[in-house]
Amino acid sequence: MRVLAQFFVLCTIWISAGLSIPTPAENAVATPPAEFTANPTPGGGGSKYRDSPHFRMYNYTTTTAADSTIKTLESAYSCFVDDLGWRSTGLTYNGELSDSGPYYKLNVYNVGALTGAAANTGTESKTGLSFLNIVTQYLNTPSVFVHEFGHALTYCEKYWIDQIRTGAWWETIAQFVADTYLTSPICSNARAKYNLSEGDTLIDINKVISDSFQIIVDATSNSGNYYQAWPFFTYLTNNPDNYTGLGWAIFPAVWTKYKRDSNETPLHVLERIAAPTRIQAIVGRYWARMAFVDIGHKKAQVAFQARRKSLNYANLDSLGGGKYRVKAARQPRYMGANIIPLKGTGAISVKVTVANSTAGFTATLAILGAEGTVSLLLYDAFKLTAELNRGLDYQLEVTGVTA
Ligand SMILES: *[C@@H]1O[C@H](CO)[C@@H](O)[C@H](O)[C@H]1NC(C)=O
Ligand SMILES: *[C@@H]1O[C@H](CO)[C@@H](O)[C@H](O)[C@H]1NC(C)=O
Ligand SMILES: *[C@@H]1O[C@H](CO)[C@@H](O)[C@H](O)[C@H]1NC(C)=O
Ligand SMILES: *[C@@H]1O[C@H](CO)[C@@H](O)[C@H](O)[C@H]1NC(C)=O
Repeated sequence: MRVLAQFFVLCTIWISAGLSIPTPAENAVATPPAEFTANPTPGGGGSKYRDSPHFRMYNYTTTTAADSTIKTLESAYSCFVDDLGWRSTGLTYNGELSDSGPYYKLNVYNVGALTGAAANTGTESKTGLSFLNIVTQYLNTPSVFVHEFGHALTYCEKYWIDQIRTGAWWETIAQFVADTYLTSPICSNARAKYNLSEGDTLIDINKVISDSFQIIVDATSNSGNYYQAWPFFTYLTNNPDNYTGLGWAIFPAVWTKYKRDSNETPLHVLERIAAPTRIQAIVGRYWARMAFVDIGHKKAQVAFQARRKSLNYANLDSLGGGKYRVKAARQPRYMGANIIPLKGTGAISVKVTVANSTAGFTATLAILGAEGTVSLLLYDAFKLTAELNRGLDYQLEVTGVTA
């Protein structure tokens, strides 16, 4: 039977948080120098280094390897800072943010080994600058070190620093930066400028779709999705549903409009950016589009088509007579969803009954939408509470199709 439609139920349980919109800091506009100043303090420097205008690589192996790594970093810098207007990694995050300089090269260290990591990002509090460590064997793997560059970009935007509830989302953003650099048309000029070609997408289609019931960004060790959840940002920046406020303008707004020292989640700032549209409606549209991975990302779409048959859509148990109940283990958690392919022909009707009518949810069938009234929950993805993890228990009654 052919798949007529994808039905999904989104869990958006929750509570309030009366938040006001902060005024973003006004930055002085200045032209950065063509070549930034070297500063050995972040990471400790060293005597053996290779330079490019915005980077210095210490303890390099060969000049060819060093030049290749920093060329890719320059290309990523060109995309995110020059073309997209993200704050320069040459600027300090200390004090009141200003773009008037001084501008320092981002230090990059070739290291022999790191515990449990291919690369990481360090920070130096005196200078307010970050630095990257890359294990030798990953010097030629942009998905690894452009991810770290994504952390450096997030650091110099300051306002997520020490905000625990943004913690897991740093990884989501870093993966988004790496995938965007590698595959997006928005970085094609920056890649071409350095004679670099498009790369492969980082999408983990099985994780994103088969585990879509999870909390939207979940940092649970071994089972979480925080490294895989970045297509949400691809959706937000491509903005295929044309929501006011979304698009590339969400960067740097997710940082500049972050309510200072509030420890709010990124969903809270996104909701202010997209106001008056509720974030639940936006997350709902995201999951509806993820039913077909229709988020304006060609390689992700190809990955979906290639893997589609092996993805786990077994969210329901049949109760007979066209009735189904969600499996307990796959009940949608906070801002997670069930995607349910419906098979059959002819007229369709779908009725959803939620066991706990106080739980917020959104159900979308094809283009028909019904949205619950819900609000935002504050959470730290590393320490999930029972409240967040409470699944949405629902039943589905269909006619004309099977689920
Ligand atoms: C410097 O590079 C060498 C060669 O790759 C490596 O063996 C060494 O561990 C690096 N130094 C540090 C401090 O990581
Ligand atoms: C790119 O390739 C062109 C033609 O080979 C060359 O002139 C240019 O210097 C290269 N640019 C970079 C940044 O490597
Ligand atoms: C969004 O806007 C684009 C460009 O105007 C248009 O082609 C597209 O159909 C719109 N999408 C929706 C869902 O309205
Ligand atoms: C129903 O949901 C509300 C809000 O999500 C929660 O406070 C309550 O404990 C739930 N009741 C049951 C029986 O699960």
